[in-house]
Amino acid sequence: MVGRPVRPPGHRSASGGRDVGSVTGSVDQAGCEWLRYDYSPALMPPDQPDSFTMWRYRDLLPLPDGPVRFPVPIGGTPLLAAPALRQALGTPHLWIKDETRNPTASNKDRATALVIEDGLRRGVSTITTASTGNAAVSTAFGAAAAGLRAVIFVSADCRPEKTALMTSAGAWVFQLRAGYAAAVDLSRAAARTFGWLDRNTGANPATVEAKKTVAFEIWEQLGRRLPDVMMVPVGDGPTLVALDKGFAELVSCGLAERRPRLIGVQAEHCQPLVRAWLGTPAGPAELDPGATAADGIAVLRPAIGDAVLDAVRRGGGGMVAVTENALLDAVAALARRAGVAAEPAGAAALAGWRAAVEHGHADRSESVVLLVTGREKVSGTPADPNRVAVVDGLDEVERALGGDVLVVPGPDS
Ligand SMILES: Cc1ncc(COP(=O)(O)O)c(C=O)c1O
Repeated sequence: MVGRPVRPPGHRSASGGRDVGSVTGSVDQAGCEWLRYDYSPALMPPDQPDSFTMWRYRDLLPLPDGPVRFPVPIGGTPLLAAPALRQALGTPHLWIKDETRNPTASNKDRATALVIEDGLRRGVSTITTASTGNAAVSTAFGAAAAGLRAVIFVSADCRPEKTALMTSAGAWVFQLRAGYAAAVDLSRAAARTFGWLDRNTGANPATVEAKKTVAFEIWEQLGRRLPDVMMVPVGDGPTLVALDKGFAELVSCGLAERRPRLIGVQAEHCQPLVRAWLGTPAGPAELDPGATAADGIAVLRPAIGDAVLDAVRRGGGGMVAVTENALLDAVAALARRAGVAAEPAGAAALAGWRAAVEHGHADRSESVVLLVTGREKVSGTPADPNRVAVVDGLDEVERALGGDVLVVPGPDS
């Protein structure tokens, strides 16, 4: 039996998304409604994987039959036992899900692959996203591999090495002085106006569908079992919400009894969701994205923040904030005790685990998986200045692209 979304891709959503004949653009940040399937154990592939990539779970993805066109293997990342780290932390049942092993060293590659796969089937030529950095690097490389043009929007303070990587893969990069939220708004406006493929996290449900495959892999790698606790860095929210959806789908398929407790981790300098969770107002020092080295999770207005809070509440988990020192210690501990190179946002799960144990939200005897989401980026060359521009509006984007923006007719034309 083959599972298919009960709400077919492209169905006009209750929130009024565009009907584009695919999952892309059919859900709006303001009213995400997730895809559902006809759940049954048969949707999971058999025990012995022939190839361990995320396409293995295609019966639980919005993916029609036929060969996968996205040309780079994605997912199938290792679940590490990390014995030295276990010993140092006194946590005998600790695992690291090492998402740095994806092609551009972050979990963003899963979302990029599914969005592009959808775009290739529809014959699109340009993909856009806003990003704190890693999703953009992933989009730039994924687009290059698939022969698409990538048009990226970032905050003007996006790390230069990430920008350099984006242009090295041929992407156009537009920088917004007004920050990440303005970059999201402009990227989404460009997608609407020009008909580009919209990979914006939280705006495109394919990003959540793809990232939920991490939950399926963990379940398989633990011998068809789930851990007690899952620690997850949180920026816009799709990574955590996707895990929750993946675990819930395993329960719906009758393959697991209950989902793990999800504990979301934010940096103390940018912790809007921790404050919302605690119900206490955040001061300016707690809403200062530029003050943390964890740029990937430094998001002031998380795209699907409410869904994050629902997910942690449902599973009996919570949210914790961690200090800059704790983040840097976690980077060092992952390197020295587990041989895993992580950037600060990528190491936040370890810092969060220490905080959760300290505050009594978790116990060392529990089984826990730390999601290590990304590795520090390096680039051998500086950014190509001909492909980077500071902009305020779409007209400047159009000029920079020499008018080649592929305008699609609006609903009234
Ligand atoms: C390394 C890293 N970890 C975690 C996150 C947070 O992911 P999400 O925005 O899905 O919450 C990001 C997002 O950019 C990231 O780059």
